[in-house]
Amino acid sequence: MASTHQVKIITQDDESVTFECRSDEDVITAAVRQDIYLMSSCREGGCATCKGFCAEGDYVLGKVSSQALPYEEEEAGEVLLCRCYPTTDIEVEVPYTYERISFSPEGLAFEAEVTELSQISINVMKLQLRRTGDDKTIKFDSGQFFDLEIPGTTTTRSYSPANTSNKQGELEFLIRIVDGGKFSEFLKNGAKVGQKLTVKGPSGIFGLKENGFTPRYFVAGGTGLAPILSMVRRMKEWEEPQKCVIYFGVNTEAEIFHLDELDQLAAEMPTLELRNCVWKCTDDWHCEKGSVVDILRRDLQATGAKPDLYLCGPPGMVDATFAVCAEMGIPKERIYLEKFLPSGS
Ligand SMILES: Cc1cc2nc3c(=O)[nH]c(=O)nc-3n(C[C@H](O)[C@H](O)[C@H](O)COP(=O)(O)OP(=O)(O)OC[C@H]3O[C@@H](n4cnc5c(N)ncnc54)[C@H](O)[C@@H]3O)c2cc1C
Ligand code: FES
Repeated sequence: MASTHQVKIITQDDESVTFECRSDEDVITAAVRQDIYLMSSCREGGCATCKGFCAEGDYVLGKVSSQALPYEEEEAGEVLLCRCYPTTDIEVEVPYTYERISFSPEGLAFEAEVTELSQISINVMKLQLRRTGDDKTIKFDSGQFFDLEIPGTTTTRSYSPANTSNKQGELEFLIRIVDGGKFSEFLKNGAKVGQKLTVKGPSGIFGLKENGFTPRYFVAGGTGLAPILSMVRRMKEWEEPQKCVIYFGVNTEAEIFHLDELDQLAAEMPTLELRNCVWKCTDDWHCEKGSVVDILRRDLQATGAKPDLYLCGPPGMVDATFAVCAEMGIPKERIYLEKFLPSGS
């Protein structure tokens, strides 16, 4: 017979919520059963949204992706709550504040309508949504993501808006088309302007961190540009004075997008510098030639700069950039990252 244990979740602001968890259910499922909605997305050990640190007690960890929970983190007591089965009472510290926990499913979900759908590079589509209903407020911290549900199914995928929190109900997503991917196929073949879909969120802890006037360098691989654009647009709205640099990288010239939007932002924001990098480029390519990792290394070596770093995109690119930052002596605590792990694996 399954035993029952107490789970205490301690938030960043030292608040807590306690609930029961049976030994045969994971912590996220147990919390949902009791109308407590902790941060989670894939609920399959693949995306790292539900990561926390187990400060007290024992548990069994189910199958997780090593990208979402590397072995060293697992050894140090980090857990993915969607794969965590307590065997005693446990206490888990989570990296977000109490207000991010919802106590009703409605608190997280709303309906939105497709207002624009366009192909903006060989493998990227822009999806623009507007919230339906009277309450048009879209509140989120730049860098966070939403889960979008494919209409008529229960399949959801995570996407990070490129715009900022607003009262017009607008959400702008930049989505890489993956061959055979469920959401990708929906965008290519099923989605239409005027169509309604369910949006859940916001979720996630990727976002701007206060650090005085320290420069911020942002490194984006492909559609990893989305949350980074949101953060830099937020810095512009807040008139933040520190220097910032966007390293935006793709593999070939056919994959590049949003150059006009980036140029416009740089024209309005004197503190912003752009490094648009194409790895396998032709001689005609007029910006940086090489990967974001190479170009970032070149700049850090040449200037000796020690900025805060924000990395987002495919896991391989994020890991390689992290290694360069460490090599250049940038403390780990000043490198913030979001890996676009397959959210529906
Ligand atoms: C927090 C978070 C935020 C994200 N934000 C964005 C965003 O703003 N823009 C964006 O384009 N994507 C983003 N992603 C990735 C996105 O959620 C989907 O995983 C991706 O779009 C694929 O969905 P799909 O349904 O088309 O493919 P799936 O049906 O999920 O996958 C089909 C096949 O493709 C593989 N696959 C899926 N994704 C990738 C990938 N990235 N690289 C290589 N193979 C893959 C799968 O393993 C599977 O074999 C984010 C992911 C996370 C976790
Ligand atoms: S929600 Fe737990 S790893 Fe994705």
